[in-house]
Amino acid sequence: AKPIRVALLGCGTVGTQIVRLLTEQADDLAARVGAPVELAGIAVRRANKPRPGVPAELLTTDAAGLVTRDDVDVVVEVIGGIEPTRDWLLTALKAGKSVVTANKALLAEHAGDLFAAADATGADLYFEAAVAGAIPLLRPLRESMAGDRITRVMGIVNGTTNFILSAMDETGAGYAEALDEASRLGYAEADPTADVEGYDAASKAAILASIAFHTRVTAGQVHREGITGVTAADVAAARALGRTIKLLAICERVEAGGDRPGEAVAVRVHPAMIPRSHPLAGVNGAFNAVFVEADAAGQLMFYGQGAGGAPTASAVLGDLVAVARNRVVGGRGPRESAYADLPVRPIAQA
Ligand code: NDP
Ligand code: HSE
Repeated sequence: AKPIRVALLGCGTVGTQIVRLLTEQADDLAARVGAPVELAGIAVRRANKPRPGVPAELLTTDAAGLVTRDDVDVVVEVIGGIEPTRDWLLTALKAGKSVVTANKALLAEHAGDLFAAADATGADLYFEAAVAGAIPLLRPLRESMAGDRITRVMGIVNGTTNFILSAMDETGAGYAEALDEASRLGYAEADPTADVEGYDAASKAAILASIAFHTRVTAGQVHREGITGVTAADVAAARALGRTIKLLAICERVEAGGDRPGEAVAVRVHPAMIPRSHPLAGVNGAFNAVFVEADAAGQLMFYGQGAGGAPTASAVLGDLVAVARNRVVGGRGPRESAYADLPVRPIAQA
């Protein structure tokens, strides 16, 4: 069958691992998809940076040009940030190219525009890697649980802060030292303020709430508190009480309250002291874990590596295989269904 041609935007921590997996598993992926999956080009910022294992002839600094090339079927975006990435992905979707992205910051602000563009042309928009790294979570919420009514999604969705809090708790490591290590291991965002101030977790919570409750929540609507105020004394005090401190993201269906009766959603991110007997207390390092509660399914728990190049590339590759299969058979993934349009309840009422 005709090859599926992929434009890769970004070749850093995650992009490098995508190139590796695409290269090492080329034959297996072709068999799974029903057509070869080929890299058409790789957009980066610095043309001359040494990149072992990355085909130099595919590199370009012209991401906008790569996205609009006629021989590109799928755009995989692992650059990050909102502009100009938003522009490039909208251009791709409007041209009917499928998009796979790990960019939670973008999705948490502009999912509406991106889904509208995808729906207009029938292109796929997949983003499993945007929340909880390697853990299959968004597609289960979007597809496997589409017949149920989800009431709550709650857990640890930021690997960097969990790595820092675990290190402070387990080894007594200092905050700054643990953050440096998280950056060195490729867990932290380009600007780690996004991690430690809770912005990254708030973006993920907005995406989770939007998908789980079929509504549209943006990052700015999420009550957010990061871990910069958590001290070694707080961690020791929690330990003395038989507890540990975790940064939690909590998305719930609630009553709207006040003079607006009816259903609403409440979404918040903040550090919480949890008993050491709680399953989330044993989630350490860059691991993430998320509980989902639904009327018929009851409680489910998702657990795995929430950050890092290879784990995130695994989720991206899973999406790439899905959208490539859809192109081979002429189908598409689920349409986005923001039909519920639930109000977001301010946290003061939550
Ligand atoms: P990196 O900073 O390691 O890599 C970013 C890449 O984007 C680099 O290759 C950089 O080029 C390239 N780039 C930056 N600006 C431009 C530009 N204007 N034009 C072309 N290329 C550009 O980031 P990560 O790989 O860690 O993360 C990428 C995305 O994946 C982000 O959205 C992040 O939030 C998300 N993500 C990351 C996870 C992780 O654990 N790291 C986990 C889940 C999601 P150059 O190499 O030349 O600098
Ligand atoms: N910086 C993010 C984290 C990467 O630490 O969880 C994974 O989304």
